[in-house]
Amino acid sequence: MFFIMEKNYKKILVTSALTYANGYTHLGHIAGSLLPADIYVRFQRLLGRDVLYICGSDEHGTAIEMSAIKENITPKEIIDKYHKSNKKAYYDLGMSFDIYSRTSTDVHRATSQDFFMNLYNKDLLYTKTEKQLYSEKEKRFLADRFVIGTCPVCGFEEATGDECENCGSSLTPLELKNPRSKITGDTPVVKESNHFYFPLSKYQQSLETWQGTKNNWKPNVINYCAGWFKKGLQDRAITRDLDWGVPVPVEGYDEKVLYVWFDAPIGYISATKELFIERNNPDGWKDYWYNGETKLVHFLGKDNIIFHAIFFPAMLMAHGDFVLADNVPANEFMNLEGSKLSKRRGNIIYVKDAVEKINPDTIRYTIASNMPENRDTDFYWSDLQAKNNNELGAILGNFINRTFVFANKYFDGTIPPQNELQDIDTNIKLRLNSGLEKIEADYENYKFKDAVTDSMNIVRDANKYFNDTEPWKAVKENKERCETIINICLQLVHSFAVIFHPVLPFSTEKILHMLNKGKEDLSWDKAGDFVLKPGHRLNQPEILFNKIEDSEIEKLS
Ligand code: MF3
Ligand code: ZN
Repeated sequence: MFFIMEKNYKKILVTSALTYANGYTHLGHIAGSLLPADIYVRFQRLLGRDVLYICGSDEHGTAIEMSAIKENITPKEIIDKYHKSNKKAYYDLGMSFDIYSRTSTDVHRATSQDFFMNLYNKDLLYTKTEKQLYSEKEKRFLADRFVIGTCPVCGFEEATGDECENCGSSLTPLELKNPRSKITGDTPVVKESNHFYFPLSKYQQSLETWQGTKNNWKPNVINYCAGWFKKGLQDRAITRDLDWGVPVPVEGYDEKVLYVWFDAPIGYISATKELFIERNNPDGWKDYWYNGETKLVHFLGKDNIIFHAIFFPAMLMAHGDFVLADNVPANEFMNLEGSKLSKRRGNIIYVKDAVEKINPDTIRYTIASNMPENRDTDFYWSDLQAKNNNELGAILGNFINRTFVFANKYFDGTIPPQNELQDIDTNIKLRLNSGLEKIEADYENYKFKDAVTDSMNIVRDANKYFNDTEPWKAVKENKERCETIINICLQLVHSFAVIFHPVLPFSTEKILHMLNKGKEDLSWDKAGDFVLKPGHRLNQPEILFNKIEDSEIEKLS
């Protein structure tokens, strides 16, 4: 048995990193956090567990203010555009959020301000004066990325206030020679500004103790954290001199906003509140967040680990009451055809474009099969074509199709009876059940790549069963034998609808419809049990995965 029964959790709260609403999101976001989270929650729902999937747009931060200034529109116009577009693309790709919210809502503003005030009132925060660059012309402090100047290390003239693109040095705006505003070219002056700090260093011990109790975290996550602990955690400024963001709720500071990495993770809490407001149960969110019996799981890409495994948990500890993450199963990155799948490089596939051109289940399957669970992986269009044609079509689609062809042609579109069983029949059932056990463990342990491989391997064996039992001969020589074989094959089709549901939500719903079965049959418990009754009428089959031609792939790559 692979399955490790964990602590008795009553509820599961799953988040995937809120995506910035300053641009279209790309397949890297899907591979890093959205798809693994969706697969995980769909699996948990199949088990009948009480699970919520929370996500949304991250709508604050300098990047958004910057794009707004550059494009000469308001931040609100930017976030509205990308929030709407990204949300739609995610739903088109089958993401089954309980809520896809955003951080510009009133509930979120109030929730983050209350959170801040809780820490402030307990005297946990302190202020410190910093020297910052200020533009007299623009009448504002320039955030790191709003400043350009000459790199003190290599002399590159277009370095920004956070890093030098030329030599890779990380910088602060005050280190730049000949600094100027990125927007107006104005030469800024040095001015002092007061900021609130969160005493992260004080929480290092508690964080290490807490992480020490986790024996099932992924090695990549443990290693990143160990690195930061070794360097020693630094206190962090949690306010910024920006116009766009959640206003700091303290007199004298109301011109400032909360640091985006302070407010954004609180977005998970605000979104849960909004969900329960929608459900007319405004206190319902507390059952998830205040309850020690909730399993909180954050899905994200490796660049977000420090915020979810260190900074946010420390904030939650400081506040008290809230549940801490059970796991932070971060992924590495997925690169496109060998080069980094990131907005900066321009070498990207936007989610919205991909779902327009390709069967969403094919995208999901390809990414899940090659998920960057422990190391970076590459996305190739040719790989997507091969997965679609040679696995989804030729193995899964083929098994379902040949089974339905028999049922229609020889059994009048109904499920034939199951007569006397032979060893080969009981063996395929045993094979299915041992496969199910393994896949269940894969999903519980965040091994989605293995889950996909193990699932498809059962279908391979089902095809072998079909070949070995030779129903095309049996139908002529021994009709009763043929009835049994096709009965079993249809039971297997039902099992596959369940097993593949987390990865292929659209196709498995179609399979269920073809079987003329309802949602109640989409349950993990029923996947191994051959629950279809003889005599039950089937619907007409449909093609699940159309072949993708070379010419289509050439257009895409
Ligand atoms: N917007 C961030 C990013 O894409 C992630 C925010 S996650 C949250 O990198 F927890 F802060 F919400
Ligand atoms: Zn440099």
